[in-house]
Amino acid sequence: MLDNFYNFGEQIVDKSIKLNFPDNFKWGSATSAYQIEGAWNEDGKGESIWDRLCHTYGKIENNDSGDIACDHYHRFNEDIKFMKELGLKAYRFSISWPRIFPKGFGEINKKGMEFYNQLIDALVTADIEPWITLYHWDLPQSLQDIGGWNNSTIVQHFGDYAEAISHEFGDRVKNYFILNEPHIIAWLGHYRGSHAPGIQNASIFINSVHNLHLAQGKATQVIRDTQNDAKIGSAFDHTIFTPIIDTKENLEEVDRVDQLANRLYLDPILKGEYPSIIKQMNFQPSQDDMQLINQPQDFLGINYYSRHVISSKLKKNVFDCDKIIDQSFCTAFNWKIYPNGMYETLARMKKEYNNPEIYISENGAAFDDIVQKQGIIQDDDRIIYLRDHIAAVYKSIQEGINVNGYFLWSLMDNFEWQSAYSKKFGLINVDFNSLKRTPKKSYDWYKDVIANNSIQYP
Ligand code: FCB
Repeated sequence: MLDNFYNFGEQIVDKSIKLNFPDNFKWGSATSAYQIEGAWNEDGKGESIWDRLCHTYGKIENNDSGDIACDHYHRFNEDIKFMKELGLKAYRFSISWPRIFPKGFGEINKKGMEFYNQLIDALVTADIEPWITLYHWDLPQSLQDIGGWNNSTIVQHFGDYAEAISHEFGDRVKNYFILNEPHIIAWLGHYRGSHAPGIQNASIFINSVHNLHLAQGKATQVIRDTQNDAKIGSAFDHTIFTPIIDTKENLEEVDRVDQLANRLYLDPILKGEYPSIIKQMNFQPSQDDMQLINQPQDFLGINYYSRHVISSKLKKNVFDCDKIIDQSFCTAFNWKIYPNGMYETLARMKKEYNNPEIYISENGAAFDDIVQKQGIIQDDDRIIYLRDHIAAVYKSIQEGINVNGYFLWSLMDNFEWQSAYSKKFGLINVDFNSLKRTPKKSYDWYKDVIANNSIQYP
């Protein structure tokens, strides 16, 4: 029954045929360091801003933290067995900056390097391509203490970190996402304050946006200089904004929030210019800065989850951009399920951003998984969500959009930021008491998708 609702009657693809993907399509899955590793203070790792936020009473659901998370730090071999069994071609994971540089810069922590060397070696042995994310939100706390993303010295430190990573792992790692979701880092971390470092300040927000862009440019340059066979991009969250009805006011509001949530991050890198909304923020970037930001990218990572329906009547101020007014057909996170938004996003990249090489760097859904008899988790709603979004990817490829791979979020249930362990995105269930892993029905489903390189509607 849900099936009909999800698409709102829209026929994304012809459901009677088998949807075959191109031969080299990269089927993957994604995770991030803080969300799975645990071992928050082991083997010389420095404190991160997420350690600090989680250890501050009242900030995180149930006062939980990623101190242990999935304990992937000690169990990565078991996790790689699951990946191998699943048939993953590629695995996207992030490096914890404070594991490598406990204070953000200076001396390298050899034990930190050793952990990722072992992880990468095990992936390569299992024939799974390692795709690294350099920054998935866990900034060294020492850097935050001197201003974090608000202090432009971070650009050089980030460049040095990127160089160390590429130098150490570049013989085995060829693909890098520099940043994960600069929009969420800047918006939730520095304007809304719900994410680490928990700042609510408009001018810090704008400086952070700019320094994130500069850091992305710098790291891109540095990796290119260190490694001539590297492919480099970043992962951008992209949200579709739809007016509740097409009035002039609503369309203007859609444009405003689209600039604020999407174009503020894509345009400087891909077009070398900030969108016009930046003028309202009294911000004037220099030519040199724009040149550093506008580095050629090898690919574009798109994280797509949902859409927002917009009404101008709910406008509060220039920074507001999350007015979901239709709560029907949502995931456990109340995120609107809108598979066609995947297609709309990808079509937009072709039309407005010159048809770049694209990887879906994240897509997936949280549902309240119900454990049935014999411990089976029959997560049909997740399967339907994934199937319809992957079908939208198929449609995009048919239309000449350059999508080359899909990283499903996420391999296993993990620490979902402020929501801690209450929101589950995994193909694999993790019991956070025993740390036992149990594949869900969606794991078997995705395994078939990969093995057949296709989607088949029932
Ligand atoms: C994305 C994050 C990822 C995860 C998913 C659900 O915004 O990049 O870490 O939390 O949402």
